[in-house]
Amino acid sequence: MTGSDSTILLAVTGWDPDVWQSEFAKAAPGRKLVLDTKDANEKIRYALVWKQRPGSLMGLPKLEVIFSLGAGVDHIFHDHQIPDVPIVRIVSPDLTMRMSEYVVWQVLDHHRLGPRYRQQQAQKVWHEDRRQPAAHEVTVGILGLGVLGRDAAQKLRNLGFRVSGWSRRLQTIEGVTSHFGKDGLKDFLRDVDIVVCLLPLTPETKGILSMTMFAQMKAEGPLGAPVLINAGRGGLQNEPDILAALDRGMLSAVTLDVFKTEPLPKTSPLWTHPQVVITPHAAASSSPQALVPEIVAQLESYERGEPLKNIVDKAAQY
Ligand code: NDP
Ligand code: OXD
Repeated sequence: MTGSDSTILLAVTGWDPDVWQSEFAKAAPGRKLVLDTKDANEKIRYALVWKQRPGSLMGLPKLEVIFSLGAGVDHIFHDHQIPDVPIVRIVSPDLTMRMSEYVVWQVLDHHRLGPRYRQQQAQKVWHEDRRQPAAHEVTVGILGLGVLGRDAAQKLRNLGFRVSGWSRRLQTIEGVTSHFGKDGLKDFLRDVDIVVCLLPLTPETKGILSMTMFAQMKAEGPLGAPVLINAGRGGLQNEPDILAALDRGMLSAVTLDVFKTEPLPKTSPLWTHPQVVITPHAAASSSPQALVPEIVAQLESYERGEPLKNIVDKAAQY
């Protein structure tokens, strides 16, 4: 089958497929993209997916590669019926830059007391009530030193923060104190003032942002109790534990971009908690304009016989 003969399935839920379709038509005008397997299942060679309907990737005898339209792939593994073909995820300078912008924005906002000054402004209060620590007095710890964590770590280093990180295997980054594995987590937690979570959601990391973790953090630092920023996945966090840790002063503030249930239900107490900053899973959105040309370039190199890049480790689920 030649590239132009092969049909591509766009299997997305919760996102508007139109803009992906139109970017695809621009980047690969000769290729056929379908939204449904009906009538085409004998021809589908590639699937581009975001939260595909469970079972929708089965019964495609010519399927060769699944492309996740996001950096995370938990949305694929959520489906227990996935064909045994390689899964490729997004690794893109555009997405990485968006995430680093978000991390730097939130770290600086907490570091420079943004939430407090916004509350004071709402009450017309002029009050500077404590010393502003310098960046070099503050340790930002990054859970997950992968593509996104590494870039954020380097940008935070450039701003003068002390930066540490935690990963499954040892990762070395200049100027960053590295910890790894279950045994390394305790040492990582002992010293952090701001924790940024950029872990994937896997069976090993599910629910890791819990009271067990918060209890291992130091009680007081230059910003008061530690700050938590989670832009990984909602399934990493125990939301009642986060609220309890805030109310007991074990965390001083939290930024959450991701939630166990999205959209965050209106009944969630997180919405109105004064120490919680909420963004709607918007830290690093997949841009069809930036990503489609990169996916098409991968298809073309794969069809020239070159190896696929950014393949997911199915055993580790990331
Ligand atoms: P990577 O796969 O490149 O990095 C994952 C990192 O997590 C690696 O350092 C890995 O360790 C570490 N890790 C995985 N499992 C464990 C574990 N059990 N214990 C310790 N460390 C672990 O992923 P990316 O950096 O590209 O993306 C990270 C996540 O960010 C995505 O999976 C997704 O959930 C989230 N994301 C969120 C977005 C948003 O808008 N909110 C946008 C894009 C992504 P090791 O280095 O040893 O492999
Ligand atoms: C992703 C996301 O995984 O947007 O890329 O959450």
